Amino acid sequence: MSAYKIEEHTYDVVVVGAGGAGLRATLGMAEQGLKTACVTKVFPTRSHTVAAQGGIAASLGNMGPDSWQWHMYDTVKGSDWLGDTDAMEYLAREAPKAVYELEHYGVPFSRTEDGKIYQRPFGGHTTEFGEGPPVQRTCAAADRTGHAMLHTLYGQSVKQKAEFFIEYFATDLIMSDDGQCQGVMAWKLDDGTLHVFNAKMVVLATGGYGRAYFSATSAHTCTGDGNGMVARAGLPLQDMEFVQFHPTGIFGAGCLITEGARGEGGYLTNSEGERFMERYAPTYKDLASRDVVSRCMTIEIREGRGVGPNKDHIHLNLSHLPKEALHLRLPGISESARVFAGVDVTKEPIPVLPTVHYNMGGIPTNYWGEVLNADAENPDRIAPGLMAVGEAACASVHGANRLGSNSLIDLVVFGRAAAIRAGQIVDPKAPNPELNRASVERALDRFDKFRNFNGGTPTAELRLEMQKTMQSDAAVFRTDKTLAEGVEKMKAVAGKMDDLKVTDRSLIWNTDLMETLELDNLMPCAMATIVSAEARKESRGAHAQEDHPDRDDENWRKHSLAWVNGEKVALDYRPVHLNPLTGHNEGGIDLKKIAPKARVY
Ligand code: FUM
Repeated sequence: MSAYKIEEHTYDVVVVGAGGAGLRATLGMAEQGLKTACVTKVFPTRSHTVAAQGGIAASLGNMGPDSWQWHMYDTVKGSDWLGDTDAMEYLAREAPKAVYELEHYGVPFSRTEDGKIYQRPFGGHTTEFGEGPPVQRTCAAADRTGHAMLHTLYGQSVKQKAEFFIEYFATDLIMSDDGQCQGVMAWKLDDGTLHVFNAKMVVLATGGYGRAYFSATSAHTCTGDGNGMVARAGLPLQDMEFVQFHPTGIFGAGCLITEGARGEGGYLTNSEGERFMERYAPTYKDLASRDVVSRCMTIEIREGRGVGPNKDHIHLNLSHLPKEALHLRLPGISESARVFAGVDVTKEPIPVLPTVHYNMGGIPTNYWGEVLNADAENPDRIAPGLMAVGEAACASVHGANRLGSNSLIDLVVFGRAAAIRAGQIVDPKAPNPELNRASVERALDRFDKFRNFNGGTPTAELRLEMQKTMQSDAAVFRTDKTLAEGVEKMKAVAGKMDDLKVTDRSLIWNTDLMETLELDNLMPCAMATIVSAEARKESRGAHAQEDHPDRDDENWRKHSLAWVNGEKVALDYRPVHLNPLTGHNEGGIDLKKIAPKARVY
């Protein structure tokens, strides 16, 4: 028996994470009359959604013709035909409703002259099923859209009497022996106490794992905590090989310069001053899909046309845009460019480089957010008591590549869907599950083991080794050789977890221990990513495999599943959902329109 004293809490629903998805789920659950707690390691309005800049996609049609079918088509094509059709339909159909709800909750969107929500162009968003010009579909609050959403959703959640447990770090899921999630254990960072939240439904909204890489636009808090908990619970992670590189991270610093900058008319140039995207994507140019633009930039650099003394980055030009437009529409990135690159955007180009930005893969779910304990035989089997939403989840709506501004809409559409579903399946009058004490003990033992680690490897050193390996061997372009070497290197890195050294033994604000627990969440994410990538012998979306340059729908139009246990990873696959929710003659999409074809912009 452990010596730790634990405080127990009982809720209908516990949401872990307070970014856009976590807060939208929390708000929705509370609106449904469910007793809801939100457990978060950072103050809600400091969650990583605060850094989302350019906007949220929805076919409102405020700036010209648009339709949810066009949005769905773009999402299918953006996903390189790996997204689940039902989930993509749900996203595109529900998006306008979800955005109008945000507006009514109080999100201060930018406005058109006639008072409608302002929408800007974003990469890969088009009209007429990819045959027409770019569409203005991305609803924006200047270039601080995520910030505006978080503040509004937090205020609304408090109004609905959701209870917040702030600066509590969730360490492990509490699972029954037959695989039902019963709650979560958390460590309160400011006083060192340990807590178990008993819940009829746990919702993981813990964000991505960008920090498995050396250079990422993701906050340092993006450590795949939910993914780590799921992997330790013996559940699979899905499509982890698909890691998005955003074309315009600030060179050196990694901070995001929104795609909205190109949406507002910015463009990329190489060392010859050439607008090179015109060569690669003659129709949509700088507004091609992100994976495409990142690859083109990398090719320019590889072929010696990068800018700067070492020819190792690219220029993003905004100085031709009117000063008033920059001030009104892009104030945040103008400031970021000044602070992090020393650049005045009205006069000089911003030095940029493709930078890790988003994980398409994550915890497999259906489009209601219910977690799938899937394998090849049981591809849609639900893990009872557990949901996942947002970047932590893989619905799968983004498939092999996400379109810009489809993340914020994913957060609110699926956060809201999870709440609707919980309203149907969680009975507030039913008793809570009896906690599996063995599972609680296991969580405590792990916590204690980490707290007392006394090996020879400092956490920061091992984390850096992981980040450098992932950055060099699971990059924009991959080969059989880099991936095979990367797998071996990552196995060696993961094998050193038991040699970690934690120097601070206290329980109060012990950042050494917290970063070590975070590393233990990042490590299975990194392992699943590189092993799934090594196995996938094709190129699709963000997985550009130079030894297998073509998409292979016959053999590889399927989701990867990865079970991680230390340095061991077992793989399996499940089929892509090919059927939409609504037939063509019921007002749904014509399946012929979304049949796989070559993906050109
Ligand atoms: O470029 C951006 O503003 C990022 C948007 C996104 O990742 O959806």
